Amino acid sequence: MGKERVAIIGSGNWGSAIARIAGQNAKIHADVFEERVPIWVFEEQVDGKKLTEIINTTHVNAKYLPGIKLPENVVAVPDVIESVKDATALVFVLPHQFLGGVLQSLEGKIEKGVKAISLIKGVDVEGSDIHIYADVIEKRLGVSCSALSGANIADEVAIDKFSETTVGYRKKEEGELWQRLFATPNFRVNIVADVAGVSLCGALKNIVAVAAGLVDGLEYGNNSKAAIMRIGLIEMKNFCLEFFDDVKVETFLEESAGVADLITSCLGGRNRKTAEAFVKTKKPFDQLEKEMLNGQKLQGIHTAKDVHNFLHSRNRIEGYPLFETIYQICWHDTPVDKLTARL
Ligand code: NAD
Ligand code: 13P
Repeated sequence: MGKERVAIIGSGNWGSAIARIAGQNAKIHADVFEERVPIWVFEEQVDGKKLTEIINTTHVNAKYLPGIKLPENVVAVPDVIESVKDATALVFVLPHQFLGGVLQSLEGKIEKGVKAISLIKGVDVEGSDIHIYADVIEKRLGVSCSALSGANIADEVAIDKFSETTVGYRKKEEGELWQRLFATPNFRVNIVADVAGVSLCGALKNIVAVAAGLVDGLEYGNNSKAAIMRIGLIEMKNFCLEFFDDVKVETFLEESAGVADLITSCLGGRNRKTAEAFVKTKKPFDQLEKEMLNGQKLQGIHTAKDVHNFLHSRNRIEGYPLFETIYQICWHDTPVDKLTARL
């Protein structure tokens, strides 16, 4: 069998951090992977230069992961179709807002037998239907798609601070392949047969992280934040068990994708940070995203809206008071001091 040819689709904060690891491991496991790892970069000008040129000359993504050297075998490609040419292993790691456009470009152009993995945190909602992005990718491209999620704040992983993550696989050998690509001594990868659980934990914890940021903005303290995390974890679990058949309950408590990601996001993530600023500055989230994140994207408020729309269409809003409160505060001017009123 030939070597696996990896392509990375997305080059933001997490995309760049994971490309650094994949590039290193493609060289270490040269028996399994082709050394060159193309990464699709949405082209933009940074200080008067193309971002792809900056990455390919300095080996630093100056906009989304400044100060971190990427291995030279990670090659920035501005054309998404070109970036996946001949690839056998596709890594989707882009804000969910942009996945639809990318899939439209790739549809019909991916060979049979190609494997994929989604590192995207979010859910796809259409009326009363809800899908994880691994399923969306699988269906649109005809590939087998795993999922990776965990307590993985990109800036910390990028400087090799010890962290863990979870890969949910369809077939064990695919889980093992992704583990080969991503595991390092300081980035531990556990593999589980639970693509839906891994994906949903990563999506839903972002709503709870917004709630934690509101707690910080209100200066309610640690007990309140712990309560929000506990209630959030229960709503996450109930949501998964109510609407998905194949989720494993152990994923919530035993995996990095579950409780550990919830904790790190409620302590240190971008959703938490901007939600705190939302309370303190009274500016809207879209303005805060622009002012505070330099092009990086918020997920939690959008997932809150997607989950609200889904629950509304299923007539189940009252089962999820924390999720609903976050939606109402973020999108409907509900006063933030009503945060705990329905809990
Ligand atoms: P990001 O938040 O840094 O987003 C910026 C990316 O969006 C850039 O690559 C930019 O080029 C791209 N972009 C901007 N406009 C675009 C357009 N019109 N079309 C296409 N792309 C466009 O991205 P990220 O941090 O890499 O996050 C990707 C996924 O990984 C998200 O689902 C996120 O929740 C998840 N994730 C992030 C982290 C983290 O710490 N950053 C950790 C784990 C998981
Ligand atoms: P934020 O998007 O809130 O920064 O969360 C990052 C993350 O998913 C950490 O695992």
